[in-house]
Amino acid sequence: MKTLTIRRPDDWHLHLRDGAMLEAVLPATSTHFARAIVMPNLVPPVVTTADARAYRDRILKAVPRGHDFTPLMTLYLTEATRADDVEAGFRDGVVTAVKLYPAGATTNSQSGVRDITKVQPVLERMAAIGMPLCVHGEVTDPAIDIFDREAVFIERVLEPLRRSIPELRVVMEHITTKEGVAYARSGGGNLGATITTHHLIINRNAILAGGIRPHYYCLPVAKREVHRLALREAATSGDKRFFLGTDSAPHLDPLKECACGCAGVFCAPNTLSCLAHVFEEENALDRLEAFISLNGPAFYRLPPNEARITLKRQEEPVAYPKSLVMRAGPVTIFDPMHPIHWNVCEEAI
Ligand code: NCD
Ligand code: ZN
Repeated sequence: MKTLTIRRPDDWHLHLRDGAMLEAVLPATSTHFARAIVMPNLVPPVVTTADARAYRDRILKAVPRGHDFTPLMTLYLTEATRADDVEAGFRDGVVTAVKLYPAGATTNSQSGVRDITKVQPVLERMAAIGMPLCVHGEVTDPAIDIFDREAVFIERVLEPLRRSIPELRVVMEHITTKEGVAYARSGGGNLGATITTHHLIINRNAILAGGIRPHYYCLPVAKREVHRLALREAATSGDKRFFLGTDSAPHLDPLKECACGCAGVFCAPNTLSCLAHVFEEENALDRLEAFISLNGPAFYRLPPNEARITLKRQEEPVAYPKSLVMRAGPVTIFDPMHPIHWNVCEEAI
């Protein structure tokens, strides 16, 4: 039996939601992950340090006894965000990063930024204090094909932004294209990129070929195979600029299985098993720790976790439930569409 013991990982992009959903989904993450960058796209969004403090308290209350989990909070950047509030939240250790959603780009992003020049003072302050900006990198221009929105965002928004504030520390969130990989590689130490588990496993056929499969629909939408291969190469390369952000984004099934289903893949429960499978396929198990446990903390200037987890390869495929069943209904768990033999088996200090 093959085993792999590595430092406990962190998730650098996670949706935990609120209320009953938060209570239901949090254990899937806190069982294995020590920390997570928590997305602020609640309804209404987490826009001020006071909002973030209150949300952090609700998350901490929902952490199951015996789990050691630290939520790293983000603020949802709006055109009304105050630089002083952002700085105070960062200095007090309440807020780790700010999230830029172009208005309308994804689930619950209506209050996002329409005119980037309006947030320039906040971004300049963040650059001055070394606070990272997490970017949902898609344009919302209806004239741009949805499969091109990431590449066009890099050209139209991200490159000009980084040229105007070179000291700003930027995380390209959930990159999905070879253009995203190439741009991340072209940056210096101020640029990082997260990659999700599911974008390493599926391409757009999973959503559209042989019937429409809403549980594979997320934003940014999965692209062609050539892009998936570029993401795999980046994630398994050991390059410090790339780290895991699962983008686990739970929605109740009826909200996805309908005429206008919402975007989001719930992959937290089996993410580590899926990743071990991917890294084994790429002959890169020795670089899994860099991707999930070392590169992220290095970018965020935090120490890596001291605790360890052990992954074990077993003969029998791991049996995962199809969904997490809540009182309000089921939430389908990401199905990698092939048997997975890796399991997380124990935690040791
Ligand atoms: C996310 C969600 O559901 O909140 N959906 C998604 O498809 N990833 C929003 C996001 O991160 O884009
Ligand atoms: Zn997300």
